[in-house]
Amino acid sequence: MAVIAENLKVNLNGFVMQNPIMTASGTYGYADEYNAFIDVSKLGAIVTKAISMSPREGNKHIRITETKAGMINSIGLENVGIDVFLRDKLPILKKNNINFVMNIAGTTVDEYVSLAKICDDNKIKAIELNVSCPNVKAGCLEFGTDENSLFELVNAVRKVYTGCLIVKLTPNVTSIEKLGIAAEKAGANAVSAINTLKGTSIKLNLINGKFKKEIVSGGYSGTGIKPVAISAVYRLSKVINIPIIGIGGIETLEDVLEFFAAGADAVQIGTANFTHPEISEKLVVELNEYIKNNNFKDLEELKRELRA
Ligand SMILES: Cc1cc2nc3c(=O)[nH]c(=O)nc-3n(C[C@H](O)[C@H](O)[C@H](O)COP(=O)(O)O)c2cc1C
Repeated sequence: MAVIAENLKVNLNGFVMQNPIMTASGTYGYADEYNAFIDVSKLGAIVTKAISMSPREGNKHIRITETKAGMINSIGLENVGIDVFLRDKLPILKKNNINFVMNIAGTTVDEYVSLAKICDDNKIKAIELNVSCPNVKAGCLEFGTDENSLFELVNAVRKVYTGCLIVKLTPNVTSIEKLGIAAEKAGANAVSAINTLKGTSIKLNLINGKFKKEIVSGGYSGTGIKPVAISAVYRLSKVINIPIIGIGGIETLEDVLEFFAAGADAVQIGTANFTHPEISEKLVVELNEYIKNNNFKDLEELKRELRA
């Protein structure tokens, strides 16, 4: 693999990454799962699976189903909880020199604040507030769909957390711009967009005149959501001045460039990791070569030209 160039560096309002390629929460575990496939330390950063105060078992019903252009998941935020994360997962991330963002999820403002405080005490450099998960009964999406609730939440977290505060926005709203503005006003350092879209898959099987149905409702992700994600990034870039991390259906270097053109400062790769576990590292190498082969000075110049 080629050496990663200095000129791919990104500064997300205080959170520095060696390149703009990140992996999306819930699709990359806590990174150790992927060490067998790639050198994870070469990525800009990984985002952990959402962490809550207590461990969560997640949903009991079918959690994942494939669709023609992506997948639907209904994991229900299964995770190890903050104590186990700090005890078992954090040391591995540190030992392997992996830059990471901690994705946190709560059901109340107090739970988010407690999690953020613990992150601050443990000097975790960046957190991503998951206010946009469609697969749990309480919390999360409720904050992400109402600008006043979002403002209050981000404002409360800002008071206890001194690192880079990223707010992950949902596309399941009428105006993502209003939510982005609320996050910025409340003190977010960056926003990431988008989380999954609400989706339902119905698979039909006719047996002896009766339909057997497999119905899975949850978050739709993958290649089919890319235009929705680009639209969200593009519209956000017109109304906010903090960095935007683009997420949604990214699989190729062309996709990455399109997100930069729309206004993204960095990108996260999600569903594509499941079919191509090495994809993120490959994108870092390809981006580096693209910049070199086309005589751009650095990533910043490439972004400027893409947006001109
Ligand atoms: C199986 C699965 C689990 C996910 N879990 C989380 C999560 O815990 N927290 C979160 O903020 N987003 C979660 N997401 C959303 C992704 O981080 C990402 O925003 C979304 O999948 C869109 O990107 P993609 O099309 O590249 O997958 C999950 C997505 C999938 C597919």
